[in-house]
Amino acid sequence: MTNALKMPRDALLPMNSLSPNDPLEPNSLGRGPLRRSVIILPECSSTNDEARALAEAGEPEGALVAADFQRAGRGRMRRAWQAPRGSSLLFSLLLRPELDLSRALNPIMAVSLGVAEGIRRVCDLPARLKWPNDILIRGKKAGGILCELGLECKSLKYVIVGVGVNVNFDPRAVEGIPPDATSIQSELGRRQPRAELLRAILGEIEPRYRSLLRGESLRDEWARALATLGRRVRVMLADGDFSGMAETVDESGALILKMDDGSLRTILAGDVVHVENDGRQ
Ligand code: BTN
Repeated sequence: MTNALKMPRDALLPMNSLSPNDPLEPNSLGRGPLRRSVIILPECSSTNDEARALAEAGEPEGALVAADFQRAGRGRMRRAWQAPRGSSLLFSLLLRPELDLSRALNPIMAVSLGVAEGIRRVCDLPARLKWPNDILIRGKKAGGILCELGLECKSLKYVIVGVGVNVNFDPRAVEGIPPDATSIQSELGRRQPRAELLRAILGEIEPRYRSLLRGESLRDEWARALATLGRRVRVMLADGDFSGMAETVDESGALILKMDDGSLRTILAGDVVHVENDGRQ
């Protein structure tokens, strides 16, 4: 999908004038173990692809690749991820955690919690999470995470965690972005400098990722941040849809559903929809 072709001019023009005044530069991101090496690209196909190429070339943990524009940004379930040039946070982290394969998705907990806390701290917005990896503000999707694994002989070689946060544009003006999307600007009523937000997000991810590596659990904090728990949800899997109450999550990050017959069902991966619209986030 060619993103630029799908952007109407009214979505592109304000961003072109914003981008030079809202640069992402390595030296404005501060220091930390997950910004050990920082690459900022004006454009690429996908920051996940750039990070994967670094990983395959032997780059150690802690590389960060961010871009002003992705020609073929992707989300989960083979969806496209679009953002006008210079408008948003589009970045990928290269991690090499020594984790059992059953815990390979735990870094998503550290990253999603860090993104939500960074948004709360810098923008004072009520960011929450939707299982497994959406960032919500007031019930609307403001960001998402795409985690891709590099495996070698059934063990984890690296994890690429790609993060997209809609910052300074109106998602309603971009054809192809679902109507339940929002952005920081839409919720805040003003633009948010991207570097300040990314610095804060990285500063929140790093200590959480460190505690994961020490063997500590992020499950409880993640469960508190998940707007999904305690709700009725519809789960979409390749072999069909079903509904249940989202009870809790386990240490691996799997969602535990209580089915209508009282049985419990563990969902390891998939897409959920919050069925009830009772005003909660
Ligand atoms: C989703 O909600 O489906 C996940 C979206 C992830 C988008 C980010 S943007 C940076 C990185 N590069 C990509 O191509 N995708 C992720």
